Amino acid sequence: MALEFPLTPNPSPKSDAEIAAIHANPGFGTHFSDHMSVTTWHQDQGWVADGVVPYGPFQINPACAVLHYAQEIFEGLKAYRHADGSIWLFRPDENAKRMNKSAERLVLPQLDEADFIKACTRLVETDARWVPDAAGERSLYLRPFMFASEDYVGVRPSPSAVFCVIGSPVAPYFAGGVKPVDIWVTADYARAGIGGTGFAKCGGNYAASLLPQVEGSEHGCSQVLYIESVGKDQVEELGGMNVFLYRDGKLLTPALDGMILDGITRKSVIQVAADLGIETEERRLTAADLFDGIASGAVQEAFACGTAAVMSPVNSFKSRHGVWQLPQPAGPVTLKLRERLIDIQYGRAEDTHGWMLRVV
Ligand code: PLP
Ligand code: COI
Repeated sequence: MALEFPLTPNPSPKSDAEIAAIHANPGFGTHFSDHMSVTTWHQDQGWVADGVVPYGPFQINPACAVLHYAQEIFEGLKAYRHADGSIWLFRPDENAKRMNKSAERLVLPQLDEADFIKACTRLVETDARWVPDAAGERSLYLRPFMFASEDYVGVRPSPSAVFCVIGSPVAPYFAGGVKPVDIWVTADYARAGIGGTGFAKCGGNYAASLLPQVEGSEHGCSQVLYIESVGKDQVEELGGMNVFLYRDGKLLTPALDGMILDGITRKSVIQVAADLGIETEERRLTAADLFDGIASGAVQEAFACGTAAVMSPVNSFKSRHGVWQLPQPAGPVTLKLRERLIDIQYGRAEDTHGWMLRVV
C-alpha cells in the first residue's frame, strides 16, 4: 500500500525572519528545516508508521546495528525554486532507483520509487518556506537515508530499518561558486574495490575517504581523486563527485565499473553534452590519460560533478609526485555545460528530457 506521510506540525517552527537570515548565508548542511519525513520497516510488517514530523533527534539504543556495522545508505538531491516561485525536484526517480540498488548491496529493504518520491515531495511541500531562491545557486538539499535499527550486536542483516528525509538550505558544496578547485590524487588509499561497495551510496565508503581527505587538505586540496590502489593505473572518482576530462574536443569519464557511483549529475552532463553536440567517451581512464594528458597539453579542461558540488572546474591535480596544472581552469566547455545544466534545474532552459518534477 502506498505511504501517505501525514503531517504532525512542528509546534515551534522557525520564523520567516530566521529562515531569511539562514538563506542569506546557508553554507552547506548545517541548517535543517522544521520537519522530516520518516517511515519504519519491519520484515514481518513491511513499511509502517509513516509521517512528516517535527525535525528532531532519534532515540537510539547503544546496541543499534547501524552504530556498530554501518548498515546504512543515503541519497542526495535538491529542490530548486524557479523565478515564478514554483519548486521542483531534479530527477528524483533516479535517486529512488539508486537507493534501491544500494539497499540491495547493504541488505536493507526496498522502498517503492513512488514512496521515496512522496517522502521527498511531502517534506518540500510542508517546508516550502525553506527553499531559497535561485540567487547564488542556492537550493534545499534533501538527504534521504536508511539505517538498520535492530538492537543486536551480532553481525547479521537487520530485520528492521528506518527511512528518513531531512532538508537543508544550501549553497554549492564548494564556497565561491565556479572557483576552480585543487584535487589531491592518491593511489595509497582505496575508497572502494572490486566486489566492494563502490557503486552503492553507503556511509562506510565515506568513512574510508576521511583519512585521505585529511591528507588532501594538508596539501591545500578540497577533494581527493582515487586511482585504483592495486594496479595503480585506473582513475576512479572523487570522494563525493565524479570526474570528467575534456580532450581533443571530447569528454572523457571513467566507465561505470562497479567501483564508482553512477552519478545522476554525471549521466545528466553526458546527456547535456550530447544535446550541445559534444561526444563523451565512457571508458577505462588511466593515470597516463590524466597526468600525461595534462602535461602534454592535450587535456584542456577537467571538472568534478555531483549534486552537492554541481559542476566544479579543476584548477590542478596534485600528488606526492608533482602538480598538474590545467591550462584552462574553468574553460569554455565546462562553463557551457554547467550553465545549461543549471538553467534546466532553475527553469531557465527548456527541460527537454522531462527531468524536473514540480512539487509546489
Ligand atoms: N561519487 C560519489 C562518491 C558521490 O558521493 C557523489 C555524490 O552524490 C557523486 C559521485 C555524484 O553523484 P550525484 O551526481 O548523483 O550526486
Ligand atoms: C551529494 O552530492 O549529494 C553527495 O552526497 C556528496 C557529499 C560529498 C555531500
